[in-house]
Amino acid sequence: MAAAAPTSVASKKTGANYSFFTGGMAALAGLMFGLDIGVISGALKFIGDAFHASDAAKEWIVSSMMFGAALGALAAGVLSYRLGRKASLILGAIIFVVGSLFCAFSWSIASLIVARIVLGVAIGIATFTAPLYISEIAPPAKRGSMISTYQLMITIGILAAFISDTLLAYLGAWRWMLGIVAVPGALFLLGVLRLPNSPRWLLMRGRSREAREVLHELRQNDRVVDDEVRDIEEQLRRPQVGWQLFRGNSNFRRSVFLGIALQAIQQLTGINVVMYYAPHIFGAAGFQGHAQLWGTAIVGLVNVLATFLAIGVVDRLGRRPVLIAGFATMTVGMGVLGYMLSIGTLSFGMQIFAVIMLLVFIIGFATSAGPLIWVLCSEVQPTKGRDFGIAASTLTNWVANFIVGVTFLSMLQGLGNGITFGIYAALNAAFLLFTFFMVPETKGISLEKIEDNLMEGKPLRHIGV
Ligand code: BGC
Repeated sequence: MAAAAPTSVASKKTGANYSFFTGGMAALAGLMFGLDIGVISGALKFIGDAFHASDAAKEWIVSSMMFGAALGALAAGVLSYRLGRKASLILGAIIFVVGSLFCAFSWSIASLIVARIVLGVAIGIATFTAPLYISEIAPPAKRGSMISTYQLMITIGILAAFISDTLLAYLGAWRWMLGIVAVPGALFLLGVLRLPNSPRWLLMRGRSREAREVLHELRQNDRVVDDEVRDIEEQLRRPQVGWQLFRGNSNFRRSVFLGIALQAIQQLTGINVVMYYAPHIFGAAGFQGHAQLWGTAIVGLVNVLATFLAIGVVDRLGRRPVLIAGFATMTVGMGVLGYMLSIGTLSFGMQIFAVIMLLVFIIGFATSAGPLIWVLCSEVQPTKGRDFGIAASTLTNWVANFIVGVTFLSMLQGLGNGITFGIYAALNAAFLLFTFFMVPETKGISLEKIEDNLMEGKPLRHIGV
């Protein structure tokens, strides 16, 4: 074992910067995710006109991406284990570029749906692999904020898509709306090519010399590298992988179910109701024409700004208090908004108040469940089953996203504004309780410690202690 070398201030800094660069690059996968969530709402009307699409066809155009993403997330578990995290990110980026160009050049509804499925596969791979990769290279004390950077990039992608849609809408240029995302996709590909392999994955594949080299670049401290390698190797000695572990180990099943529950919860907060249908909600509050688009852009902007705030606090305040405060805020925002929308015609002052409530909801989400669910899902799975566990939770994110997306308009029609938003408010209140009883505090705890606690059978709520 190498002797511990003294670490100079300069090299410490280089190590930290390198980790941030590496994490930042992987977080750009979030940008692609966001662009795709945001881009379709503005493009849909023009696509509908160009192809004379029925409402059902439009629903398919929107949701085919989520379907593809679910497939991608499913495949990503195997890919990231066999090919590695870096190679999976590269593959995701290539498919992304091809998929977005395919969308831009689509010639019929069917071809656009296929193109959106292809694009979704890329997003599924990227959304699975990026947080996994980040959590494997980040030092424990920075893990939360590095993964939150990923969420920040999602929100920036959504905002960029809202803005570019609004501008391109003057020209009706829906092909450009869909195609332009190939540019950040190509940049991402170039950046990813320069990333190191995940040291944890290298150790899994028995490539310990390379793992040490990467870790040394990241940590710049031999003692830290030795400790980390020892911890990871110890865990890798425990047999079983993925499905086998899931079948045979009830402790692992608990973490898988926790990840699944957390991602379902994130979607059932109703966040994407706002992301996909913000103009519609502004319409229900009495705003017309351009005001709806402006309102949507403001939603996107507030989403970005509040996520910045979250990055500052997750590694200081901890996961649980931030989540609990977030669900409380979302309950109030959704509940009051639902009430206002059920009243009928609103005075201008009340319209503004309704918008403020919508923004309160967004702030609640962006400072809590937005980043933290991704953080927690990458933290609670044990090494041997991490790929499987994160694949299951990411898949759930997309399936739940799909369900929320395809039910919202029918819910509004069938149940009315008050009840629809009331249901989401009640769900947020229930998630507050779930967090209180089931969600562990993982702030600053090493992944190895969390794993030990889980596998010893400690209650989920306590696996971070
Ligand atoms: C969610 C997305 C959502 C986005 C909004 C992400 O964490 O997974 O579904 O659209 O946040 O900022």
